[in-house]
Amino acid sequence: VGGRIRPVHPSELATHNKKNDAWLAIRGRVYNITHYLSYHPGGPEELMRGAGIDATELFDKVHPWVNYDSLLAKCLVGPLRFDRPDGE
Ligand code: HEM
Repeated sequence: VGGRIRPVHPSELATHNKKNDAWLAIRGRVYNITHYLSYHPGGPEELMRGAGIDATELFDKVHPWVNYDSLLAKCLVGPLRFDRPDGE
């Protein structure tokens, strides 16, 4: 079941920008949204606008009241980190 929380560098986040492999970050937390895409009330295309990036602004523009951290609790990959890519 995975369950391993680990830091994610923005350069790694950026590679997860496809519908079958989509991650996004909100307020410093990275989520794997791949399986949530088809459940998003705004549709998958809207949610994909935030794939591979820090989607905090996009998210807050549309629905700052939505409790993403609870909805995506099982999809948490880990904290967004800004120091260096993995393995360095
Ligand atoms: C609704 C866009 C991320 C959960 C919507 C709607 C849009 C939208 C346009 C309105 C749909 C409508 O009323 O017809 C976006 C964009 C996102 C994003 C651009 C980021 C790039 C997320 C995330 C979650 C989420 C990360 C939660 C995991 C929801 C929920 C609604 C909704 C629960 C219904 C809200 C309500 O009616 O009060 N979204 N969304 N969205 N989205 Fe997102």
